[in-house]
Amino acid sequence: MSDPHLEVENLSMRFKVKTKILHGSADQGKFKTVLNSVSFAIKEGETFGIVGETGSGKTTLAKTLVGIYKPKNCTIKLQGKEINFKKREDVLSLRRSIGIVFQDPVGSLNPRLRVFDIIAEGLPDLQKMKKGEKETKIREAAKLVELPESKLESYPPEISGGEKQRVSLARTLAGGKKILVLDEPTSSLDVSIQAQILNLLIKLKRELSISYIFITHDLNVIKFMCDRVAVLYYGQLLEEGSTIELFERPRHPYTYDLIHANVTLSSTNLYTTDHESGEPSTEGCVYKNSCPKRFEPCERNPPVIVRNGVRVKCWLYETQENLNGVISEIKKELGDGS
Ligand SMILES: Nc1ncnc2c1ncn2[C@@H]1O[C@H](COP(=O)(O)OP(=O)(O)OP(=O)(O)O)[C@@H](O)[C@H]1O
Ligand code: SF4
Ligand SMILES: [Mg+2]
Repeated sequence: MSDPHLEVENLSMRFKVKTKILHGSADQGKFKTVLNSVSFAIKEGETFGIVGETGSGKTTLAKTLVGIYKPKNCTIKLQGKEINFKKREDVLSLRRSIGIVFQDPVGSLNPRLRVFDIIAEGLPDLQKMKKGEKETKIREAAKLVELPESKLESYPPEISGGEKQRVSLARTLAGGKKILVLDEPTSSLDVSIQAQILNLLIKLKRELSISYIFITHDLNVIKFMCDRVAVLYYGQLLEEGSTIELFERPRHPYTYDLIHANVTLSSTNLYTTDHESGEPSTEGCVYKNSCPKRFEPCERNPPVIVRNGVRVKCWLYETQENLNGVISEIKKELGDGS
């Protein structure tokens, strides 16, 4: 693996909210912060997993990476070149390099187009292409994803869920994309079909040297597919490291709770009886209302600590000296000089 293929630094996204009643999230005024200073980098040929519960901002992150949303005040570099979201050609280069496959193959394929024409949508410079060249590329893409040629004449309602996901993949690969964002690509499929698609993805990665950003709720899928993984919680990356490290030695209390099934990714409310369930906090550590390890510094936003290749956003890993400094500042603010 070589230099970072894609680097994301301090990516934040907020959306205007329509209601005035905001509850339990990092909302300020009429805005809701959905991604908060997210940073990570992926290398060529790597599968980088992003795991997070519903509403944690996974799809928003995916859509930003393919230029659907235009973030401000962050740095996104593609093979070392910074993307300026105000420049059309930069956004186009992002779209040409990074493809996306969504969870719902039904919603992402136009039911009125033949599979052949859907795959053609992924070809860049389609207008300039000769008919024969276009056809060859479409057939090659279909072959790569092991979609029978006979299906090229079908319409989406006439093919199965697994075949639809193969069509989505073929459309993305036809354009020669080097990074694929896979947003829960198998969660709408039956278990046996899920395994087929996951194995296909592994085969494609090997053959085409592409990188994946693999978004999922499913920890088993992460274990099976990913080299590294990041844990997203209400828009913040709380821990990131190699998959083995994260599963064997989870550092962040939230990661620990996930791996030990104290919480599930479908809802933070599903705690065991040992755990207090809490809303994400808008002040200090976002996990502090649920964290069994919470201590005085947690009233402040934790730093990201990097140790042995693992990044963890938690005060537990700060040096004692820095912790003492923060605790005495908090005491001073509270007017407690003791
Ligand atoms: N365009 C938008 N405008 C306003 N709010 C949005 C928009 N898109 C997403 N959100 C909100 O941002 C939050 C994160 O949404 P997102 O779809 O990124 O979550 P997710 O992690 O993909 O969830 P899921 O696992 O359910 O797919 C949610 O609270 C959602 O309602
Ligand atoms: S910073 Fe504090 S509250 Fe947050 S996860 Fe770490 S110990 Fe728990
Ligand atoms: Mg989503």
